[in-house]
Amino acid sequence: MKKYIFGNLKMHFNLKQTEEYLENFLPKVESSKNEIVLCPSFVNLMFTGQKLTSTKVLLGAQNVASEASGAYTGEVSASMLKSVGATYVLVGHSERKKYFLEKNETINKKIQECLGQGLKVVLCVGESKYERANKKHKQSLEKQLCECLKGLYDNELKNIIIAYEPIYSIGSGVLPKAKEVEEAVSYIRSVIQAEFSEKTASSLKILYGGSVNAENVKTFAGIKGVNGLLVGGASIKPDEFAKVCNI
Ligand code: 13P
Repeated sequence: MKKYIFGNLKMHFNLKQTEEYLENFLPKVESSKNEIVLCPSFVNLMFTGQKLTSTKVLLGAQNVASEASGAYTGEVSASMLKSVGATYVLVGHSERKKYFLEKNETINKKIQECLGQGLKVVLCVGESKYERANKKHKQSLEKQLCECLKGLYDNELKNIIIAYEPIYSIGSGVLPKAKEVEEAVSYIRSVIQAEFSEKTASSLKILYGGSVNAENVKTFAGIKGVNGLLVGGASIKPDEFAKVCNI
């Protein structure tokens, strides 16, 4: 079955480095059967989008403004992202919450903005090490899902992918047990079923993210209920990310 593989390039690569990366990476994934999405920084979006037009790889952004337009210095709107060819937007990444104090209410507005512009959303959720150790991870996931998806209609969920990213695993090399990921993904589906519908929950795409690399990709991609991967550190290495994409 086709997997959804997202490369979150985070704050890496200037324009020249982006060009070199794409020249190296794109030929290696030409025959991949998976849906591959590259999420470069805002300034590299347009250039990357142009390079992707002749490929099957899609363009995603790492963030979006919560407002449609106006005097919001430094922000980039959903309509701007759409206009440069983005298909997906990552929303609610834990680094946005940690360093930029993003709240679930703001994330909810960002999601509404994206959907209004016909953009697909990857909503990131995940528990902290503390929450996991104190068995509060389900409560934490439920709160994030309910608050971020508040007020959405059932049929809008078809344009939303959930990325389960345990915070302690991001960029750390600390891997959750496969069983823990399977349980968390199944729990996410049960929350979506309760809040929306059984049909929506069963067709929902859920990604795993956190220290995925070419060595462990098979383990995580093979977990029951996992439809794909959200890759950070390993996605900036073209050879390694191509291996991940070609599973
Ligand atoms: P790493 O793959 O570097 O752990 O990052 C995961 C991530 O944050 C993807 O959004």
